Amino acid sequence: MIDKIFRILADIDDLKASNPEEFEALRIKYLSKKGIVNSLMSEFRTVSPEQKKEVGLQLNKLKNSLQERINELKKNIENSQEQSTEFDLSRTSYPIALGTRHPLSLVKEEICDIFKRLGFSIAEGPEIEDDWHVFSSLNFAEDHPARDMQDTFFIQSSPEIVLRTHTSSVQTRVMEKNQPPIRIICPGRVYRNEAISARAHCLFHQVEGLYIDKDISFADLKQALLFFTKELFGKDTRIRLRPSYFPFTEPSAEMDISCHICGGKGCNICKHTGWVEILGCGMVDPAVLENCGIDSSIYSGYAFGMGIERITMLKYQINDIRLFFENDVNFLHQFQSAF
Ligand code: PHE
Repeated sequence: MIDKIFRILADIDDLKASNPEEFEALRIKYLSKKGIVNSLMSEFRTVSPEQKKEVGLQLNKLKNSLQERINELKKNIENSQEQSTEFDLSRTSYPIALGTRHPLSLVKEEICDIFKRLGFSIAEGPEIEDDWHVFSSLNFAEDHPARDMQDTFFIQSSPEIVLRTHTSSVQTRVMEKNQPPIRIICPGRVYRNEAISARAHCLFHQVEGLYIDKDISFADLKQALLFFTKELFGKDTRIRLRPSYFPFTEPSAEMDISCHICGGKGCNICKHTGWVEILGCGMVDPAVLENCGIDSSIYSGYAFGMGIERITMLKYQINDIRLFFENDVNFLHQFQSAF
């Protein structure tokens, strides 16, 4: 009998139960009325008096050890059940804190959407460009100041590779590959070698537009820009065009809008003139069309270009262009409700 007791004692640590059913089977096997411990107790009566002390001691030890092991197994099962109830699969998910869209993206989308409604489609191109697409094709004379080191970031001198200074380069690329009608807007990042200040940065964003077809006139340009202005700044906004100069348009103009802060009466924003300048525009110079393989005796067109930073600053009354590039969440969070 003592051997039997020792064998069971040796196996106690190996007893396992991974669920309540297995645990209950073990308990019945060892500790129930008809279990092994009780049957050993009955057998104890038959043990010879000399052995009684030793066998009794081991039998008690067995009983206690089994009880302990079984309690331990019970606790393990309860713990693992508790853990699995931590996963409540029916629970709604934690709220995910959504980021906000950058104000420049918001305004870019808004500008693009307005022109899309007028039938324009989006065209994009590389930020690293060759001289032809940024300058030469667009009628910039060899010694034009915009090519100067002060304005342009040169990457390589021969052949000349630059960071584009305007997205007009995309217009050239599209004209080279497509015949009219062409009606595109070109949003994108541009670079100019300027001292960084509250009003200027060495990188900024533009949306430029181009419409080439038969019989396109300055009146079409003016009408499209008027529509755009009223959509973006409100229907009471007025525009005025002032003669200007760009190498790639003739005639050229700069467009002002009536100051939407003071309604044209005069304030700090419009420097008390009632007007703020927002874009450059003009009729595409026939030489540019010819450079890109478009017959200027059949086709004409208009182009315009604006800085997204400038428009965003006006729209949201932001007084420092550097704020757009600092990624200060206190600034960015102010645009949370916009989309
Ligand atoms: N490309 C000009 C600029 O970057 C803007 C412009 C585009 C002006 C088209 C006239 C016509 O300043």
